[in-house]
Parts: sequence; C-alpha cells; structure tokens
Amino acid sequence: MDLTGFIDQILTGDALQLSHKLPTGSIQTIVTSPPYLGHREYAKGFSLSRLELGRESDPKLYVSRLTEIFVELRRTLRNDGTLWLNLGDTYRDQQLLGIPWRVAIALQESGWILRSEIIWEKPNAMPSSVKNRPTLSHEHVFLFSKTDAYVYKADAIREPHKTFTSESRMRGGRNHFGKKNGTPEKGKNAGNPNLHNGRWDQAFHPLGRNKRTVWSIPLGKFRDVHFAVFPDKLVSNCLLAATHEGDLVLDPFMGSGTTAVVARRLARRFVGFELLPEYVAMAQRRVSQSNLPLFSTELICITSLRGCGRRGLRLR
Ligand SMILES: C[S@@+](CC[C@H](N)C(=O)[O-])C[C@H]1O[C@@H](n2cnc3c(N)ncnc32)[C@H](O)[C@@H]1O
Repeated sequence: MDLTGFIDQILTGDALQLSHKLPTGSIQTIVTSPPYLGHREYAKGFSLSRLELGRESDPKLYVSRLTEIFVELRRTLRNDGTLWLNLGDTYRDQQLLGIPWRVAIALQESGWILRSEIIWEKPNAMPSSVKNRPTLSHEHVFLFSKTDAYVYKADAIREPHKTFTSESRMRGGRNHFGKKNGTPEKGKNAGNPNLHNGRWDQAFHPLGRNKRTVWSIPLGKFRDVHFAVFPDKLVSNCLLAATHEGDLVLDPFMGSGTTAVVARRLARRFVGFELLPEYVAMAQRRVSQSNLPLFSTELICITSLRGCGRRGLRLR
C-alpha cells in the first residue's frame, strides 16, 4: 500500500471501506466531525443511507460503528499522531444520551489514549424554544493520541494571558514573573482559596498562556450546505498544534471540505473521505477556490518559532 491517489484528494465512499486502503502509519493527524446520532439524514437513496452514520436507532450501534472506524484509522496514524474528534450530543425521549462520552470511552477501551476534553462553546448557537432546560450551546472535541509520545506544539496555539493583565483584579502580580515559587499567595493574598501554589513563572510565558480547554468559536459561515460546517478557527487550532508544514491530515467525514481548505491554507497536505458525491464535488470546489497557500498570521508566527522542533511530548 502506498499513498498514490490519496494526497490532496477527497475520495467518494464509506469511511470504513476507504480507511482499509490507507497505508499504516501514514497520517499525522485526523480532524473530523462524524454525523451526530439522529441529527440529520444526508443521503437520499437506500444504498447510501445504509452506509450513512448517525441514522442508527440504537445508540450502542452508533457507538460501535464509530469505534470500528476509529480502530482502523488508528492503524493509519503515525506513532506520534493524534485524533481530534468533534461530537455533539442527542436528546431522545426527553433525555440527553451522553453520546460524546460514550464514544470517548469506547475509543479509550479500544486502545486510543484520551488526552483532552475540549468544550467548543458556540456564542452564536441556534436559539431554541426550550423552557425546561438551558439551551445547548456547546459540543465536544476530544483529543486522542496513538501513543504516549505525540506531536503537540503548545506554543503554536497559546492564548493571551488574563491573570495580572489590566483586566484582572490581581494586576499587581506581574513582578512574580520569572520567579519560581514567587507566588502571590505568600503575600497579601495569603489564604485566598482561589490561588494555588503553582509555577507562576510558567504563567507568564512570553507567547501567552497555554491553550485552555474551552474554545469559544462562532459557527462557520459557509452557507451552501444545510448542515453545520466546521469553523476554520476550530480546525486551525488543531492543525497548528498537531502538525508541521507538509504533514498529512485526514478528515474521514469531509462534508463541505473545511479541513482540506484549512490544511491547504496552512501548507499541510490532506486526504478526505465523504460518502455523498454532491458533497465531494462541493468540497473539491471549495478547495480549488481557496487561495494557495494563503499564509495566515498564525503560520507566520509559528514559522518564527521553528525552534520548538519535531519533538513528541511525554504524557503527564
Ligand atoms: C457533520 S458532516 C461533516 C461536516 C464537515 N466537518 C464540514 O466542515 O463541512 C458529516 C459528513 O459525513 C458524511 N458521512 C456520513 N456517513 C458517512 C460514511 N459512512 N462515510 C463517509 N462519510 C460519511 C455525511 O455525508 C456528511 O457530509
């Protein structure tokens, strides 16, 4: 097996069948959003709807089908590779089913290492008429790794500091910068339960604080499709942290092609699978219309951080 016919292509077909054809250890990261259970029906004809995910009446069947696909996809990852899996939940019979966590636990039991639960908060989530519970405005993104030494470039996705900035009530604390154990809780804030004995020197990394697990990102703007597309920013966070330029990125549920468009913009290569030919055509159109390579400011910023090297991180 080699990668001929895969690189920078979106292939039409079932994710499981197509993943059998990918060479072992060829993909650096997978960023994907499978159809959510019971949310919508993508395929019209019987032959395709049989293969389509998300139509299962039994949640256990949905979880086991997804698990089978991701077990096979784990084989295709490099040993230092990762999976970023976006999933939303489903209400049935007035109950939240907890689907994202059911899938996460099943993947963990199948050998994947679960490294992070990221909450994607949608500030522009669809309003709803429910009056007996809060309106759902988030989804999950789980970060899994194949082994305990994987590519995660924390510096590429740091975020602005909040603690001790002008917005913070503890703004005077910046003089703790660079001092291990120079902790504010030893001074006038002693006893404040909101403080902890931490590495405050780390809290002031010059490139910003380490990325948090809640990402507030508005829904994508691409309106040609009737389903929710990934926001570019969600995909770029994953790709910047998990890949280097030229690395191969897979989205086995490509939909309208967002992962491919962002991968290309960031000078990564991609492979996509998508069951429905009309979405494949749409994704290919989007890719060919995206200016190439369109170097974002984020990319320029990482290029200048090249020193971070191609080093896997050890688990903690
Ligand atoms: C939630 S959408 C992905 C949206 C995508 N992230 C985007 O930004 O446009 C899920 C996609 O999976 C496709 N799909 C459903 N079952 C599939 C299967 N068995 N194999 C491959 N693709 C499938 C659907 O047609 C749909 O386009």
